[in-house]
Amino acid sequence: SNPSLLILAGDGIGPEVMVEVRKIIDWFGSKRDLTIDVTEDLVGGAAYDKHGTPLHDDTMAHAQEVDAVLLGAVGGPAYDDLDFSVKPERGLLRLRKEMDLFANLRPAQCFDALADFSSLKKELVAGLDIMIVRELTSGSYFGEPRGIFEENGERVGINTQRYTESEIDRVARSAFELARKRDNRLCSVEKANVMESGILWREVVTKIGAEDYPDVELSHMYADNCAMQLVRNPKQFDTIVTDNLFGDILSDCAAMLTGSLGMLPSASLGVPMENGKPKAMYEPVHGSAPDIAGQGKANPCACILSFAMALRYSYDEGAEADRLEAAVEKVLADGVRTADLMQAGAAKPANTSEMGDAVIAALDTS
Ligand code: NAI
Ligand code: MG
Repeated sequence: SNPSLLILAGDGIGPEVMVEVRKIIDWFGSKRDLTIDVTEDLVGGAAYDKHGTPLHDDTMAHAQEVDAVLLGAVGGPAYDDLDFSVKPERGLLRLRKEMDLFANLRPAQCFDALADFSSLKKELVAGLDIMIVRELTSGSYFGEPRGIFEENGERVGINTQRYTESEIDRVARSAFELARKRDNRLCSVEKANVMESGILWREVVTKIGAEDYPDVELSHMYADNCAMQLVRNPKQFDTIVTDNLFGDILSDCAAMLTGSLGMLPSASLGVPMENGKPKAMYEPVHGSAPDIAGQGKANPCACILSFAMALRYSYDEGAEADRLEAAVEKVLADGVRTADLMQAGAAKPANTSEMGDAVIAALDTS
C-alpha cells in the first residue's frame, strides 16, 4: 500500500505554505511514481473554531495510524486569550505527547547561497551543519505542579522542570545514534551547575556514552555558554542534545545562524511502530506568523524541507529527499527569494506560490 501522510495545516501561514507542499507531493506522484495517500484535517485555532478543541479526538486517532504527520503552524492573536486547556498550542502539545514524540530533530544547515544573509559573518556559517536534538515530551513544559496559585496573599506562577532517568536515557540514545551517522561528536547541554535535573541529565548521558557509545566523542556544556558559543563559533558543534526548554531557545538561536526561520525544518520522532519506522511528525520551526499571514509573503521552504525529512525518515526515500533539498538549494542559488531572505529595499521578492513553483521547476530539471 502507499505511504500515508496526515496534513494538519493549522493557522496563519500554515495553510499558505502547505499549498506549496501539496504541489510538491503531486509532483512526486506524477513524475517519480511516488504516490502518497494524503488526508487533511484541522489543528490549533482552526480546529477550535470548528470543534471547540484544538485537536479533535478523531484527528488524534488518525495521527496514530498514519506513517507521518506534516503540520503547518498553530496559533495567532485571535486565540491568545483562550483558556490554556483549549489554546492552539495545546493541540500541538497533545500530538507530541500522545504520539510520544520525544526526540525533536532540528537541523541548522547553512545553504551557501544564504551565507551572506546570516546574522553572523559569512566565514562563521558557510558550510555550517548542526543537528540539535531537543527532548520534547517532558521537562518544564509538562512538569507538575504547574499553574498560577495563591500564596501569602499574592499569586505565584509555577512550572516544574522534571526529568526521569528513562526520559533522559531514550533521548540521549537517539542523539548518540544520530551522532554516529554524522561527525561522531555529541555535546550534551544542561545547567548542572544550578539545576538538579541537569545533574541527573549529565550523569545519565555520561553513563550511556561510556557504556554503549565509547566511539562517540562526548562533551558537556552549560546552556548559557552554549548560547554564547553558537554565536561565537557555531561550527565547533556537530550534534547537540538538550532538554525541552533549552532546546527550544537554542534551536531558535541556531535558526538565525542560517538566515531565516522560513528555511528551517524539523522532525519529531517517537518509538518504532510495527513496520520498524518511528512514529513521526514533521513541521517547520516557525510559527503562524500573524504579521505576514494572508499576504502571500510566507517562505514555504521550511515546510517543503520538513516534507523532505519525511521522505528520508518515514518513507525510506533518501534519494528523493536529496533531490528535493537540491531543488531548494538550486532555487536559492538562482537568486529566487521570498522577502524574509532579502535585505530591505532589494529587488522585488518572490511570493509564496512563486517560490513553490520555482522549486517545482527545479525538480523538473533534476
Ligand atoms: P513566528 O515564527 O510565527 O514568527 C516570527 C517572525 O518570523 C515573524 O516576523 C514572521 O513573520 C517571521 N516568519 C516566520 N515564519 C516565516 C516564513 N515561513 N516566511 C517568512 N517569514 C516568517 O513566531 P511568533 O511571531 O513568535 O508567533 C506567532 C504565533 O505562532 C503565536 O501564536 C505563536 O504561539 C505561534 N507559534 C506556533 C508554533 C508552531 O505552530 N509550532 C511555533 C512558534 C510560534
Ligand atoms: Mg520556539
